[in-house]
Amino acid sequence: MKILKVGIIGLGRMGGFFLNEFLKSDRWQVTKICEPDTTRHEEIAKRAPEAELVVDEDDVLTDPEVDVVVLSALADTRLRQIEKAVSYNKHIISEKPIGDTPENEWKAVELVENAPIRATVNLYLRNSWYLQELIKVADSGELGEIAVVRLCHNTPGLSPGEGHEAEGPAFHDCGMHYCDAAHAIVGSDFKTYHAQAVRFWAYKDPWWLEAHGTFENGVAFDITQGHVYGQLSAVQTHNSYMEIIGTKGIARMTHDFKTAVVDIHGVTRTERIERPYGGKNIDKLIELMADSIESGVRSRHLPTFREAAMASEFAWKCLDNARQNDLPVRGTAEELEQIHQRRATMTDGYGLLRKQTTH
Ligand SMILES: NC(=O)c1ccc[n+]([C@@H]2O[C@H](COP(=O)([O-])OP(=O)(O)OC[C@H]3O[C@@H](n4cnc5c(N)ncnc54)[C@H](O)[C@@H]3O)[C@@H](O)[C@H]2O)c1
Repeated sequence: MKILKVGIIGLGRMGGFFLNEFLKSDRWQVTKICEPDTTRHEEIAKRAPEAELVVDEDDVLTDPEVDVVVLSALADTRLRQIEKAVSYNKHIISEKPIGDTPENEWKAVELVENAPIRATVNLYLRNSWYLQELIKVADSGELGEIAVVRLCHNTPGLSPGEGHEAEGPAFHDCGMHYCDAAHAIVGSDFKTYHAQAVRFWAYKDPWWLEAHGTFENGVAFDITQGHVYGQLSAVQTHNSYMEIIGTKGIARMTHDFKTAVVDIHGVTRTERIERPYGGKNIDKLIELMADSIESGVRSRHLPTFREAAMASEFAWKCLDNARQNDLPVRGTAEELEQIHQRRATMTDGYGLLRKQTTH
């Protein structure tokens, strides 16, 4: 078994998660890390003493020793890095989204689909045990004909103006995962949609959005996402679920970021499955990627650039649609300032900025 040499570009929060998982695996060796913020180099060198630290992404992308690159900087750097990685025949693990605009994302899809490389995206829900369980039960007939899928992810989370500008408002930055999960459960493309959003705290973009509509195969959906859920509450909480309503039975999941629970109420099967939540499932993603590179056969569980582009494009469409549907303002810029101040000193919370404990 060949040890795969990997270079990480962007060692922020997600790049750090990748590094942790590579260090635990005997199939990977992190040989290079590109992080332009040199104030963090000392800390990174302690975590990965064998990796060479650089500040220029080209030092990773053009290095003949590097087999695989992880693209975990922000979305506005992605397309140029993908172009270079493809031209130097590197396999790619990209963070989502794979570009900062749908046009750039479809360019990236075309590039990787026509190159002799493996490319995947960290659509982490696809590698979660609970989504796979829901898909299995939907396909088994236990629920009858699938009629409705409902997904909700309301958390305090990353608030407006804290970063990720290139990733777009919350419904794109985070919500594209739920568009992708709904697409994965139903196995059909989005057809109709209507979106209602709210511009919390008078921010320029909506930070809560609910979309509903149908898939081409007639299944109806609703997706709710907001990083607005009790930002200033004394004790923060969240509400996350996925559920499938069939003509005969239902299946649903919820989690507390530590444990996930899937409840199945099928025609013959009544079951409650409780297992560790699994976080971002990066351990699974890099195993699938190593298997796919080693065997030369792409694992069907490896998320594709095409799937990422579709989910991202749909999330952007919902945001565009919401701008035509009243888009009320609730709250004030002063409240948002209070939220920023509170989050700056929080040590345990939702979607905190780097260096802090985070859910
Ligand atoms: N899959 C998921 O569930 C998930 C979750 C959160 C974030 N993300 C994605 O991961 C990406 C990174 O997010 P984050 O929260 O880790 O951000 P972050 O700001 O913590 O990290 C980004 C890092 O990239 C570095 N950087 C900037 N430009 C660079 C360049 N040209 N070359 C190399 N490094 C560069 C920055 O200095 C920073 O350290 C985003 O695109 C985001 O959408 C994905």
